Amino acid sequence: MLLKDRVAIVTGGSQGIGRAISLRLSAEGAKVTIADVNEEVGLKTAEEIKAAGGEAIFVKVDVTNPEDTDRMVTETVEKLGSLHILVNNAGITRDKLILRMTDEDWDRVLDVNLKGAFNCIRSSIRVLAKGRYGRIVNIASIVGITGNPGQANYSASKGGLIALTKTVAKEFASRGITCNAVAPGFIDTAMTQAMPQKAREELIGRIPLERLGTPEDVAEGVLFLASDMASYITGEVLNINGGMFM
Ligand code: NAI
Repeated sequence: MLLKDRVAIVTGGSQGIGRAISLRLSAEGAKVTIADVNEEVGLKTAEEIKAAGGEAIFVKVDVTNPEDTDRMVTETVEKLGSLHILVNNAGITRDKLILRMTDEDWDRVLDVNLKGAFNCIRSSIRVLAKGRYGRIVNIASIVGITGNPGQANYSASKGGLIALTKTVAKEFASRGITCNAVAPGFIDTAMTQAMPQKAREELIGRIPLERLGTPEDVAEGVLFLASDMASYITGEVLNINGGMFM
């Protein structure tokens, strides 16, 4: 058990990549708070973890609201006893070419993907520092490094998240907290299932490992960075993309 007696928060943990991360951390012994706006699906994921013998709670949280993220940490400590691991996974897309992108498209994506992570980090950092074992893992994206037409808002939010990762790593290293990012390529979830079939096939043709990634592929990387095995790694970006970008 790599995470015995550890307590983790996974934002956006109800479905997709966040669900896979929650299940994987739990399978290694962590108690997990699923923090998500989607209560119906999040409660089911928490039940799934409990049915497998793990411990989990669901807390309804909009990461753009600092009062929600404060409550997420308070409830976690009250109900699960502590906090060691924060996974900032909640994210959205509103893809459009720049000339068609509205202020609202820009603001909403930056608010959820970048400010949301900042809110969660600020709400958690004192508790993480107190335990002198903190692991923050931010789910960025390949397009935060490479850019992508139609994703000015999304790629900027993910590039910003990588810069935030490095700053948090530097500010809190002396407190025993590491902060790293994972940059997935194209992962088979609701977010990418919306793509037309032809575009998906073309995309797979550009991936050296010849398939889309799975949520579980991402969860393995997060588990590594959240564990003792990664105790000397901080400010790093782990690419999980089948070789699409090296
Ligand atoms: P998804 O859409 O399946 O799941 C996102 C989760 O975040 C949902 O449960 C949703 O309810 C939650 N969420 C959305 N807004 C929220 C808010 N304001 N507060 C709290 N929770 C909120 O997406 P998926 O594919 O699982 O993505 C997870 C993360 O991985 C995102 O940050 C995404 O940008 C990133 N990612 C996904 C890739 C992909 O190919 N699917 C590739 C690279 C990165």
